[in-house]
Amino acid sequence: MSDTTLTDLIETCRAMPGNDALLRTLLRLGRESADPAPVIAYLSEIKEPQSLAPETRTDIAQFLADMGAPEQALAFTNEEGEGGINRVRLLLQQNDREAAIALYRKLIEADKSLRKDDLDSQLLAFAATGQGAGGAEVFSISGEKIEDTSSVPSVSFSPERERITFENVGGLADIKKQINRKIIMPFQKPGLFQRFRKQAGGGVLLYGPPGCGKTMLARATAGECGAKFLNVEIPQILDMYIGESEKRLAGIFAEARSQKPTVLFFDELEALAARRKFSHNSNSSALVSTFLNEMDGYAADNEGVLVLAATNVPWAIDPAFRRHGRFDRVLFVAPPDRIARHEILKGLVAGRPQENLDLEAIAARSSGFSGADLTNVIETACDIAIEESLSSDTIEPIRQSHILEALKEVKPTTIEWLSSARNYARYANEGGLYEDVIAFLDKNAKGR
Ligand SMILES: Nc1ncnc2c1ncn2[C@@H]1O[C@H](COP(=O)(O)OP(=O)(O)OP(=O)(O)O)[C@@H](O)[C@H]1O
Ligand SMILES: [Mg+2]
Repeated sequence: MSDTTLTDLIETCRAMPGNDALLRTLLRLGRESADPAPVIAYLSEIKEPQSLAPETRTDIAQFLADMGAPEQALAFTNEEGEGGINRVRLLLQQNDREAAIALYRKLIEADKSLRKDDLDSQLLAFAATGQGAGGAEVFSISGEKIEDTSSVPSVSFSPERERITFENVGGLADIKKQINRKIIMPFQKPGLFQRFRKQAGGGVLLYGPPGCGKTMLARATAGECGAKFLNVEIPQILDMYIGESEKRLAGIFAEARSQKPTVLFFDELEALAARRKFSHNSNSSALVSTFLNEMDGYAADNEGVLVLAATNVPWAIDPAFRRHGRFDRVLFVAPPDRIARHEILKGLVAGRPQENLDLEAIAARSSGFSGADLTNVIETACDIAIEESLSSDTIEPIRQSHILEALKEVKPTTIEWLSSARNYARYANEGGLYEDVIAFLDKNAKGR
């Protein structure tokens, strides 16, 4: 192809601006040409790139990027959708990592399906997920620059989850009330609390037997609370090079402070806060002191940052974590009582084919079952009904007999936990940590 053809084509493009087919031909010829400079020059003349079709714009941006003109290419990208992703790549190509991170964050907050693995690993120093008040999940990306990306292991987001509120959590009326008073209200009515010189924020530790709704409650708190919720994946902090974990953790707190009011949620806190004797990681004490320093807020003001944590092994948590100003509010998430079990069961069978279920009777017979155990029971009952449906070729609904059969198969899991807790309460009731457990056991011993 001769250069005159190219010059002619450029002239035609000038005469018919906004002709997408022509532009695409020009791009193709430009790529084949030994000297694409006139094409690049012409593209810079286009005054209103936004009037072109999106695919054409993408093609032009790609062409310019390939030709080593990423700055010029930016004018042809969108700030939204896949075009926005292209823009992120261009910004990266120009080494404008800060702008790339900011845009990437905005894009995936609006539409998580836009996430790209390579961008995640290039741009995310850490990732946290959570739910904002509006229900949209909030992804958080550290704004700090990563000098040498090759040494920073990639971190991926935790899987998407749907938003839940207190309504989804069966029973636990008492603790919901406490969370409302101690966590949600201070965020929603800061003025009132300030009058009494109380701050929103601080630390709240949820503890209790496995499968009784600690994680669920924390997520529901996020749904209820007007604050931003950052769910910190502890394994992602731990699985780092020496010294890297502390940096990560400090970065997470910094991120929380920059976006307050925020709830930072550390699930399975014991992984991070274990007493020495429970810990196999010789490096953990540095991490523990980083955590404590950050909570104490020596370096920065923590007002408006609530640290919420959950554990099912409270006796493994270093007592230093419960000192004043740290996790000084400790809430026991008890196994569901009969009424709560009834509620949970109702929620579990809702929307499934069923016939004459007496869930109250099941609730009465399932003392010691956690929410997770009850889920297991209903799933098992469902399996039995499906099996029968398959062999009879009609839809067999879940019947009482199915649930009763399942109840025999699934064993309650909270009893063992409660008996360990009782021992700790008896012999090491540190600062009254297990008072609520004792109250629960006493109440239960009287039968209900
Ligand atoms: N109060 C509840 N209402 C409804 N479902 C519940 C409740 N408690 C538990 N479940 C069910 O059990 C599952 C496990 O609950 P969750 O993960 O919140 O327990 P956990 O207390 O965090 O346990 P672990 O200590 O093992 O982390 C939930 O996903 C839910 O299906
Ligand atoms: Mg949990």
